[in-house]
Amino acid sequence: MDAREAEGRGGGEGVKPQMHPSFINTVRQKERIKQKLSGIRSKIGVYSAKGGVGKTTVAVNLAYALSRMGHRVGLLDADIDCPNVPLFLGTDAKMDLSGFPLKPIDVRGVKVASTAMVVDDAKKPIIWRGALIAKMLGDFFENTDWGELDYLIIDLPPGTSDSPLSIMQLLDLKGFVLVTTPQRIAAVNSIRSGLMAKRLGVAVLGVVENMSGGEPTENTRAVAEAVGAPVLGVVKMGAVYGSMADSGRVPALENDAAFEAFRSLAERIK
Ligand SMILES: Nc1ncnc2c1ncn2[C@@H]1O[C@H](COP(=O)(O)OP(=O)(O)OP(=O)(O)O)[C@@H](O)[C@H]1O
Ligand SMILES: [Mg+2]
Repeated sequence: MDAREAEGRGGGEGVKPQMHPSFINTVRQKERIKQKLSGIRSKIGVYSAKGGVGKTTVAVNLAYALSRMGHRVGLLDADIDCPNVPLFLGTDAKMDLSGFPLKPIDVRGVKVASTAMVVDDAKKPIIWRGALIAKMLGDFFENTDWGELDYLIIDLPPGTSDSPLSIMQLLDLKGFVLVTTPQRIAAVNSIRSGLMAKRLGVAVLGVVENMSGGEPTENTRAVAEAVGAPVLGVVKMGAVYGSMADSGRVPALENDAAFEAFRSLAERIK
C-alpha cells in the first residue's frame, strides 16, 4: 500500500481519509526509508523473540562471512535498548553527528551503524516508551546513508512488541533468519517469532540452531516445520564464540571453522 491509498486518495475526488493519521505517517515514512535504502540489494533481519539465543552473534558473523565472501555488507544494530554490536566488534567509534545524512562507520570492511554510536555514553540505559522507540528507529533508518550494498544485515532486539514490530513495519526486508537453540523453550518462542513475522508479511528465510551440539534437534526441526522454512544450519556451542566476542573479535574473520559455518548459512539465504 502506498501513502495515496492509505489516505483513501486512490478512489477519485472527494474521498475522505480512511486510515488513522499515524498509520498514514508510517506508510509515508516507509516510502521515504525505502527510497533511502534503494541502493541495498537484500535486507535481512536476524530475529528471535527469545533473548540471549545468539541473534547478535549470528548477525555479526553472518555479516563478516558475507564480507569475506566478497560482498559489500552493512550491519545495522536495531537493538536500541541493548545495542551490543559495537561491543562484539570491539569498537567505540562514534558516528559524525555534525551533518546529515548520518554515515555508518567502516569496521574491518563492514559498514556498521548502531545507536551506541550516536550516544555519548553507550553504557547508560536508554529508557523510552513505545511511540518514541518507533520514532527513533524510523528517524535512524531515514537519516542513515548506506550507499550501495549487496547485503544489509539487521540485528533485531528480542520480543514481539514495539521495536521488532516497528522494524518489520518500516523496513522492506527480504526476510528473517530465525535463531533458536536446541532447547524446547527456545523453540516455542522461536515459533512465536516466526508466526509474528509471517503475520506481518515478512518471509522467514530459514532457521539457525545456535549453541548447537552439531546436528539440529527435534525442537529446531519443529520450529522449521511450524514456520514453513528450512533449517539453514547450525552454529556449534563453542568457546570461540563466547570468548572472542568478549574481546571484540569476530570468529568468522579469524577462525576458519566459524567462517565455514557462516559461509554455508550465507550460501543458503543469498
Ligand atoms: N555458539 C555459541 N557458543 C558460545 N557462546 C555463544 C554462542 N552464541 C552466542 N554465545 C554467547 O552467548 C551470549 C548471548 O549471545 P548474543 O548476545 O549473540 O544473544 P542475543 O540473542 O543477541 O541476546 P539479546 O536477546 O540480549 O540481544 C553472548 O555472550 C555470546 O558471546
Ligand atoms: Mg542481541
